[in-house]
This record gives sequence, structure tokens and C-alpha cells, in this order.
Amino acid sequence: MINLKEFRKYAHQLADWMADYYKDIENYPVKSSVKPGDIFNSLPDLPPSEGESMDKILMDFQFGILPGITHWQHPNFFAYFTANASYPSILAEMLTTAMASQCMIWETSPAAAELEEKVMNWLRSMIDLPSNFEGVIQDTASTATLVAILTAREKCTDYRINEQGFTGTEKLRLYCSTETHSSIEKAVKIAGLGRKNLVKVEVDETLAMKSDKLREAIENDLSHGLKPFCVVATLGTTGTLAIDPLHSIAQICEEYKLWLHVDAAFAGTALVLPENRWMTIGVEQADSFVFNPHKWMFTNFDCSAYFVKDKEALIKTFEILPEYLKTKTHGTVNDYRDWGIQLGRRFRALKLWFVIRNFGVDGIKEKVHEHIKLAKNLAEKIKNSEDFILFEPQHLNVVCFRYQPLQISNIDEINHMNQNLLQKLNESGEIYLTHTKVNGMITLRMVIAQTNVEKKHVDKAWELIKQTTKNL
Ligand SMILES: Cc1ncc(COP(=O)(O)O)c(C=O)c1O
Repeated sequence: MINLKEFRKYAHQLADWMADYYKDIENYPVKSSVKPGDIFNSLPDLPPSEGESMDKILMDFQFGILPGITHWQHPNFFAYFTANASYPSILAEMLTTAMASQCMIWETSPAAAELEEKVMNWLRSMIDLPSNFEGVIQDTASTATLVAILTAREKCTDYRINEQGFTGTEKLRLYCSTETHSSIEKAVKIAGLGRKNLVKVEVDETLAMKSDKLREAIENDLSHGLKPFCVVATLGTTGTLAIDPLHSIAQICEEYKLWLHVDAAFAGTALVLPENRWMTIGVEQADSFVFNPHKWMFTNFDCSAYFVKDKEALIKTFEILPEYLKTKTHGTVNDYRDWGIQLGRRFRALKLWFVIRNFGVDGIKEKVHEHIKLAKNLAEKIKNSEDFILFEPQHLNVVCFRYQPLQISNIDEINHMNQNLLQKLNESGEIYLTHTKVNGMITLRMVIAQTNVEKKHVDKAWELIKQTTKNL
């Protein structure tokens, strides 16, 4: 293994590699084009018995691993939702990884716990959540949603399931829209509720939940002796960024005394801009809220901001106190191991702190505003183009569209053309997009949220899309 002197040398070398990577990132194909098994088969079946030189390892990284990497930080990455990063965030990650502290309880790194509390308060005020929400960093929105559902389950059963397990008489029912992210279904399965007890509520033509259908579903369940306990509302669905009507959903939850969890995994970052806060009218009635700074707030994956109103219920659901974790400070400080599933925790607050301080709140707002402006601009061009159909309403910085020349009306043919278009675009290595299905129609999505994306990238992507349709 290398010694401290060599470590210093390679750390400098890799710092240069990182800066060069970002300098040259546009020269890489956005999406890796390796075939399944290419990387695996290029690697030896057995680990080396003797240590190998760092030079050789780095060479193999450069030529053997890097070709199998999709470059999520490339400004032409328009796929899925972004997992954007930024220079201050990367620098913080370097420190986090060097200290390699285990931040499970206050005593195992007091600064990590206290910084987490502080930056979560900052985030809460940046997105204008009510001050009676308390924040904790989870790894992902999937985990945060699972945490919310488990807390809701325990609160509504007086913490009985944690004690005794399911007796079969609970009949708990949870509601979300048909467009909700698959992590909700996964959480329902893990929480032992049974997939059949997840009620998927119909959506309207904007793909947002119909709140009258939610009420109907709840009433119907009550009349059959079932027990509604939780609703998940989505602000910004994964397919088209549809926004569920939080205000009316919150009123229904209030009326029937249901836990309301808000999943704003991607779109939550847009709340830094006051003009987008129409989405959160009614949020003061929610019980929990999640958004991912690791998607659109320039903070390296993973970093998911989870806010909960009833902190005691959260802690009561997850608290464990084995002898070796007993401390004198317990109860007077935040021991975050009791605020979620993991015991061991990374020091994630540091990168948020670096990002918020180095961008400044205004800097974050500026970038988010710019992304939305770029998307609106593109949406306008698509709308004015004869051969393309824009999906509307177009929200924030996600643009959904399909190629549909006037002379073609057969749905299968249109779907086939769009699949073909997507494949050709992605194989080009120039840009990377993904798709969704809207009413059976393949629909392409462009997510304009990459940290370094500029107008020239979006313009070039649009030209490439139009050009590629000529060769379908
Ligand atoms: C709306 C929504 N919720 C939840 C998730 C899950 O996010 P994570 O990868 O942080 O678990 C996603 C992922 O894209 C999402 O789009």
C-alpha cells in the first residue's frame, strides 16, 4: 500500500485529473457505449494477491473503467433527473472522505450533527417550509419516503406494529396517484403493508392527482372497513413533472386525519424562487416533505433533505438504545441514528454547507432561474415546430415532446419513430435523453438542470434532434 508521501503525490495528481476532467468533459460521449459484459470480462477473475502500483491502477481506471462511465456532469446530459454536482460540493466530498468520520450520533462527531441541524434550517427557510418542520439528511428520497411511511404506520397504530408485528387486522391503506414514483410502491412493500393496499388514484389531463377521486377512494375504503392512514402527494412527477394539487389534498388529509407526505424529490429545488411556491400552498398541513439537493441543488449524490413535523413520532419509530450507544448527552442533542434507518451515517451536511455558502442563496436562485428559462425557451420552439408536439402544461425545467410529422397518424408508427429517434440521439454520444409514456404515446423528456448547461448546449441539442429526424 502507498505511504503518506505517495498519497500526497497521488492526491495532487488526482486533483489535476479532476480539473482536467471538467475542462474536457464535453469531449467525452455523454452516454457510455460499452456492451453488457465488456467491462466485467476485461477484469481478472481473481483479485491480485500482491499489491499493485498506483500508476497501474490509475492507468486501468483511465482506459478500462472510464469508457464504461456515463458522464452525468456533461452539460448535454438531459436524461432522467440530473444528479448534478458542483466544484464546492466536490471539494467538501474530498474532505468528508479524507476524515471518513462515522456520524451516527452527536458524540461521534458533534460538528457533523450540529452542522446538519443548521444547514437543514437554512434549507427549510430557502424553500419557505414552515418553521415547525425539522430536517434530517437521508441518503435518498426512496429512504425518506420509507421513513415517512413507517412513521405514519406507527403513529396511526399507536406504535403497535413495531412492538407486536402485524396481526392481520390493521387493513391500512395508502394513496398516491398513478404517476407517482415507484419508490412509494417499494416503501409500501418494505413496510409490510402489502402492495394491494396501495391505492393508485386517477390523474387528470395534466397527469396530476384528481383530488375528488382521492376522496372517493378514501370513502370507498372506509365503507369496506379499511383504514386509510397516509397520502403521498407528488410535486413534480418523474414522467412529466406533473404537480399534484397539494392544497386540496391537504384539506382531505386534514378532514380524514391522514398523514400527508410530499414527494418533491426533483422539483423541490424550484421552491427557492418565490414564483414557484404556488406548488406548496397547503404544505403547512403536510406531515413530511422530501426533496433532493442531489438532483438539482448542485450537491453531489447522495443528499436527500427530509423534513418532518412530528419529530417525536419519527424518533419513537426508529429509536434503539443498545448499551454501547448510551451517552450522557442523549436526549439533549440530535442523535441522527434515531431519525432514520441507518445507524452509520456519512458527513453529508458538509457538502451542502459548502454549496450554499459558495453559491450563496442568490447564486442558487440564479442558476435555477436560468434552467427554467432555458426550458421555457426550448418548449416555445417545440410548440412552434410543425413536426413536434409539446406536452403541456410544461412545468419548470422539464420539456416533454414527441416527433409527429403531420402526415403520420398511426400511433404505433409514431411510437416506433420516437423510439428510433431516442436511440439514434443517445448512440451519437452528443446528448442523452430518456423517455416516458403519456396515454400510450412514447414521449421524450429533456431535463435542463445540469450545473454547467448553457443556452448553446440546449440550442445544439434541439438542432441535433431536428437533424436526426431526417434519418429515421
Ligand atoms: C418524484 C421522485 N420521487 C422519488 C425519487 C427517488 O429518488 P432517489 O433516487 O433519491 O431515491 C425520484 C427519482 O427520480 C423521483 O423522480
